[in-house]
Amino acid sequence: MSSPSVDQAVERRRTLVSEVLERPAARLALADLPTPVERAPWLDEGAAEVWIKRDDRSSRIYGGGKVRKLEWVLANPPYDGDEPIVSVGGVGSHHLLALALFLKERGRSLHALTFTQTLTPHVRTNLAVLLSQGAQLWNVGSRARLPWAWLAYHLWRRPERMGRSMAAGASTAVGCLGFVEAGLELAGQIAQGLLPRPGTMFITGGSAGSSAGLALGLAIAGVSTRLHIVSSVERWAFNGLMYRRMMGLAHRRMVADGLRAEHAEGGAAGLLARAGVEWSIDHSQVGGGYGVPTEAASRALEDGREHGLALETTYTAKCIAGMRAALRGSAITGPVLFWNTHASNDLRPLVREGWQERCPVELGE
Ligand SMILES: Cc1ncc(COP(=O)(O)O)c(C=O)c1O
Repeated sequence: MSSPSVDQAVERRRTLVSEVLERPAARLALADLPTPVERAPWLDEGAAEVWIKRDDRSSRIYGGGKVRKLEWVLANPPYDGDEPIVSVGGVGSHHLLALALFLKERGRSLHALTFTQTLTPHVRTNLAVLLSQGAQLWNVGSRARLPWAWLAYHLWRRPERMGRSMAAGASTAVGCLGFVEAGLELAGQIAQGLLPRPGTMFITGGSAGSSAGLALGLAIAGVSTRLHIVSSVERWAFNGLMYRRMMGLAHRRMVADGLRAEHAEGGAAGLLARAGVEWSIDHSQVGGGYGVPTEAASRALEDGREHGLALETTYTAKCIAGMRAALRGSAITGPVLFWNTHASNDLRPLVREGWQERCPVELGE
């Protein structure tokens, strides 16, 4: 069932999360952790000193934030079998790409319901790699049609043909554990003196799992901070209600797994309040919508390239643009952290000839 490289990927029994849970879920060793933190003076604004959490270096296969979630999600029911997984996303989705690559490692395949998004060069490469990995895509056209296609899948689903359904972005309660671990990891780096405690942290948000897990992890570790979540999607797709729901799901899962009583009381909101973890969601960078580049994001992408940081205009460049706008002229001083959730791996060598023949969208020029 699994490939040799997976057999070597032993479960880590002692993880940071397992120190706060009595009965932690299983976990695969897919990521190279901890990821480094580094100072980035080119991002400083006023009296704010910016640091970067380099999750772009989280895997030699495909880094970024996704692998943190997949380590947990693929190790536990209902996704730990050998059937295909069916998930959703844009045709250039990083979630689908990560899933396709890590499932292939395990001898499994990905089926996906996709929607068409702006075909930037980055999105084209992602799509080419996705198809080159053998992922089967059913493109439904617009994002608005996705819920109907998803409903149709659930009504007429044939798991033996289509596979096990997984939420967008692998943002499940178990998936969030990957970012709970990330919060604990950062707390450890602060304790070791590798960076000062950031008073404000910037992270992008889409399906909410990354930022929800991170807030919980930081709170469990007692890192008082303000999490500024720069949304990459419209308000209807990600908002405070959804964010609280995601944190609640993950917190309840941890309580069921034996979260220490001191962290369990009062639910997720109580945990965050005791630790002094605040959060806000910023929709100012969505611009023309999900995946539509903005001028500020394109500038951030270029600046990143000059400073050796590979960004993309759907999530991380919009996050940098949001951070710059928030810091400019603000009273924020001292250490600030940008959490880079995008992979830096060059995937072009993975593109196989003939992928265009299976491409479900019109590529144009
Ligand atoms: C590069 C990148 N960063 C961040 C996110 C958002 O993470 P989440 O969906 O957990 O909010 C995504 C989601 O696909 C992503 O691709």
